[in-house]
Amino acid sequence: MLQFALDFITLPPAIAVASKTAPHVDIFEIGTPLCKAAGLEAIRAVREVCPDNLILADFKTPDVGWLEAKMAFDAGADLMTVIGGAPMATVESALKTANEYGKEILMELTGVRDIIAYAKEWRQVGIEWMVYHRGWDEEASNRQWSQDDLDTIQRLIDMGFKVTVTGGLTNDSIPFFQNIPVTALITGRAIHAAPDPVASAMQIRSTISRLWGAPRPDYLSPANNSADLDVAAKAIRWGISEMDLLLTTDGTDCPGCDTAGQFCRGTQTAIFVPDNINVDDLIGAIERIMGPSKAFGKVDHAAFYLDPAQIPDFSPATVIQLLAATGNALTGLGHRVDLNAGLATANQILGN
Ligand code: 5RP
Repeated sequence: MLQFALDFITLPPAIAVASKTAPHVDIFEIGTPLCKAAGLEAIRAVREVCPDNLILADFKTPDVGWLEAKMAFDAGADLMTVIGGAPMATVESALKTANEYGKEILMELTGVRDIIAYAKEWRQVGIEWMVYHRGWDEEASNRQWSQDDLDTIQRLIDMGFKVTVTGGLTNDSIPFFQNIPVTALITGRAIHAAPDPVASAMQIRSTISRLWGAPRPDYLSPANNSADLDVAAKAIRWGISEMDLLLTTDGTDCPGCDTAGQFCRGTQTAIFVPDNINVDDLIGAIERIMGPSKAFGKVDHAAFYLDPAQIPDFSPATVIQLLAATGNALTGLGHRVDLNAGLATANQILGN
């Protein structure tokens, strides 16, 4: 995958280049300078112009993990970084929030000296992603990529991590990593400082496809058969039921999956909106979390729907995101649901 780091200090040029390059990029990174300059508005704005891309908030969070994770995910991010030097309590608190939202935390390895020792601890608490990073200052002081870097990245992958790699990468330097199954290559200046950022993004993505193959990892693969979607629809139905919400069709209660009267049609699940919640408010709240999508919407004044077949980058993780967004939207509107129970059941059905 190609992750494009939007390392700007004002929002307008970031939005302009993101909207132009979106079809050639998998993940947009709201770079640390942009997070500091424009705050959460940067995440919201990129989410609005790039609804089909993943968004990573490069907060490099050092403390109060849960709050920064909540802020990033509420604004529309799918992934967020925590700095490797953060206390384990911060890592765990950010991860707990990410799990509640069905999103991801990445450990940022800049400045971490004993990466493998820390990695063992992070693995134990459930971290799955890392950013292997040669910082700008290190690059400026002439730190070169080396075989040691390749060995460490490979060890992290062998431990089960998804590793993304960054730090002054260009189309010419990316092949250095070609024998290692990295999850994403991150480039900032090689795209946004290029004379033609769109051409540069296209060239780098084509190099990545040539070296690592076109198929993308499971968590981003579009559903390519109806069996995937059937399982996803079932995970949504059961997850929603566990959250104490009622399924419906044509205004009647769901008689249950195991009855002769089972009514589910296709992949769309209709759900009664709880009393005292306005359906339009609910859809608006889900949209603020997920971004615009046809994967949820209004059925009528009393019901809304969820449909995994409408998720562009369908995967088990995006099904969990959809459920988490629904639960969090309802909670935000004052209707508490048992989100943990819903996600646990859905994860079980999805085989996570
Ligand atoms: C700097 C960063 C950058 O986003 C990352 O290094 C990618 O940018 P570039 O490709 O220009 O090095 O996190 O701390």
